[in-house]
Amino acid sequence: MTLEITDLRVSLGKRSYPITIAPGLLEDSALLQRSIVGEQVLIVTNETVAPIYLDRITAQLEGKQLGYVILPDGEKFKRLSTVQTIYDKLLQERHNRTTTLVALGGGVVGDMTGFAAATYQRGVSFVQIPTTLLAQVDSSVGGKTGVNHPLGKNMIGAFHQPVAVIIDTKTLDTLPQREFQAGLAEVIKYGLICDAEFFAWLETNIHLLMERDATALQYAIARSCENKAKIVEADERESGVRAILNFGHTFGHAIETATQYEAWLHGEAVGFGMIMALDLSCRLGYLSTQDCARAEALIKLANLPLSPPAGLPSTQGMIDLLGLDKKVMNGQLRLIMLRSLGDAFVTADFDMNCLEQTLNACLARTT
Ligand code: NAD
Ligand code: GLY
Repeated sequence: MTLEITDLRVSLGKRSYPITIAPGLLEDSALLQRSIVGEQVLIVTNETVAPIYLDRITAQLEGKQLGYVILPDGEKFKRLSTVQTIYDKLLQERHNRTTTLVALGGGVVGDMTGFAAATYQRGVSFVQIPTTLLAQVDSSVGGKTGVNHPLGKNMIGAFHQPVAVIIDTKTLDTLPQREFQAGLAEVIKYGLICDAEFFAWLETNIHLLMERDATALQYAIARSCENKAKIVEADERESGVRAILNFGHTFGHAIETATQYEAWLHGEAVGFGMIMALDLSCRLGYLSTQDCARAEALIKLANLPLSPPAGLPSTQGMIDLLGLDKKVMNGQLRLIMLRSLGDAFVTADFDMNCLEQTLNACLARTT
């Protein structure tokens, strides 16, 4: 069966760009060539993705001045010293302002390549070719780029939109199951924050996604990207509504920081972070217990963790970590809460006792 190409667009005036989604797009040389205007190209990938996909990309870019950098794999390498190796290569190979960087990999490669593109010679073009589910539905779209600091996740970064996002859904064939499930957390997030109809679709079709059914996958990726594009178009630099994309992330980032990014994958931390945010939405009286139970049931069907990893600090330690969040304003923590499935909002107005109760309850969970 051949699936049709889904063409979407992020409309941001001069910074607008296409998102193209279909299986087999890595073989489409015209598509890749169209996305690259200048003669110089630097592909940035990592040691896991390069042996599987790098040759396919280089084959499509014959005639360009082509280089590549292979980064070490892992969230712990998402730091400035790794980005330095991208700058080194760009300078050694004399890339100028018309160069294009191509991010080939998951969110870690995408965020670092985007940051290098945002900062090299004060900004050059880059193309996202995301190869994990998480990157295909979230990190490749919207222009958030950056690296971690030992004291906090994604603390160093820049907004810099790609010139194109090319999503070859077939690359998911080689993605380990645990990584795939972590990506589902971000898919479920869109249903929870802004798309009740999609949430209901996910409840009915989650088993097809877990089997990686090609049609269901392309639909879920496209619907996720559509939702993200709409939110980014409304608030590119996160001065308002874009913050809802961080549902569950304040808790998730605290877990990742507390465990030095080693216990869980980012999507797993987001999944359990959403469990915490649902619990608090319920305790604060915003969300019904029925909706909370439906949301948790879907997270469970995606096989995401429902109890915390080992090594988390006490409730007070977690509160301190929550205070590092980028949504903190004038010393005040802001959280994303749900009013109902598909309806999220940002608030600084919550009872600290309820937050403590949520943390106590969730940190004590065993299933
Ligand atoms: P990742 O980039 O670490 O990729 C996960 C693993 O899968 C890695 O080992 C990678 O080498 C491997 N891999 C990638 N593609 C593969 C393929 N097709 N086949 C086999 N293996 C493959 O993790 P991720 O979940 O893609 O991204 C997480 C990162 O994204 C975090 O750093 C997070 O902060 C960031 N993020 C950014 C945004 C944003 O808006 N910029 C949004 C969400 C998440
Ligand atoms: N992943 C959160 C955002 O892009 O805003």
